Amino acid sequence: MNARRTLLITGVSRRIGAHLAAHYLARGDRVIGTYRQETDELAKLREQGLHAVQIDLTDTAALAGLIDDIAAYTDRLDAIVHNASIWPSDADCDADCTRQPPLISQLYQLHVTTPVQLTLALQHRLPAPIKDGRATRTVVFLTDTKVSAGSDGHLHYLASKAAAQSAMRSLAISLAPHTRANAIAPGLILFHEQDSAEKRANRLAKNLLPFEPGAEVIAQSMDYLLDCSAVTGITLPVDCGLHLLNPSARD
Ligand SMILES: NC(=O)c1ccc[n+]([C@@H]2O[C@H](COP(=O)([O-])OP(=O)(O)OC[C@H]3O[C@@H](n4cnc5c(N)ncnc54)[C@H](OP(=O)(O)O)[C@@H]3O)[C@@H](O)[C@H]2O)c1
Repeated sequence: MNARRTLLITGVSRRIGAHLAAHYLARGDRVIGTYRQETDELAKLREQGLHAVQIDLTDTAALAGLIDDIAAYTDRLDAIVHNASIWPSDADCDADCTRQPPLISQLYQLHVTTPVQLTLALQHRLPAPIKDGRATRTVVFLTDTKVSAGSDGHLHYLASKAAAQSAMRSLAISLAPHTRANAIAPGLILFHEQDSAEKRANRLAKNLLPFEPGAEVIAQSMDYLLDCSAVTGITLPVDCGLHLLNPSARD
């Protein structure tokens, strides 16, 4: 892709989503970013030109408003990046089963159902044309490298990310040739502030390449998926080699 593109990125209020939005705004692209909470990162992104839309992506009734907002803002949509995510443990999910909707339902809504509905609704409202025989829209799902290995403690989270990868492949088939769909499956990208030095050291020791990569590696991967017009239906592991290790070593 080239010229001045328009990207929709969900969950830009912090960390990887905020970095991706800043990366593309700095390149002169237009970015529509969804958020729930106001943050310092979001304020800086607004100064850079972000078109920010506040929405809880598990609220299905709110999706029509988001689509109207996007259609009013642009008639060109080059990329949709499904980044917004939650990461509850199985214990969190079990403890929360009386809440409506339960956390388990929120996982599937946020990681699978809303991204699929949003992708298809935007295709209907702002159809992606074919240009010079090539797709003009790319859809990217942020999943997780542990999807194939599984995990003792995040079954529901990983199952929802696995479903997102499956949905990505089906979209790659059904939306060709005007749209490509791919996934990035990160391993450890960024620690959380509260992670102890011991936790960090233990986690890094599990990688073939034992360092904290930072969000820039996701921007580099995204650049590749946006620019390489022959790639669709793939999942790109960005995990410092974790996928090569024995599954039992991964948790
Ligand atoms: N960071 C890593 O090391 C790592 C590892 C594996 C996979 N990943 C994947 O990479 C992506 C980004 O990771 P991250 O660490 O930057 O995630 P994060 O810090 O947890 O941020 C997630 C974003 O999603 C938004 N969000 C959560 N629930 C939402 C909802 N119901 N409606 C709308 N927005 C919602 C949050 O917005 P609010 O804060 O405003 O609620 C936030 O901006 C995720 O898909 C994650 O699964 C990351």
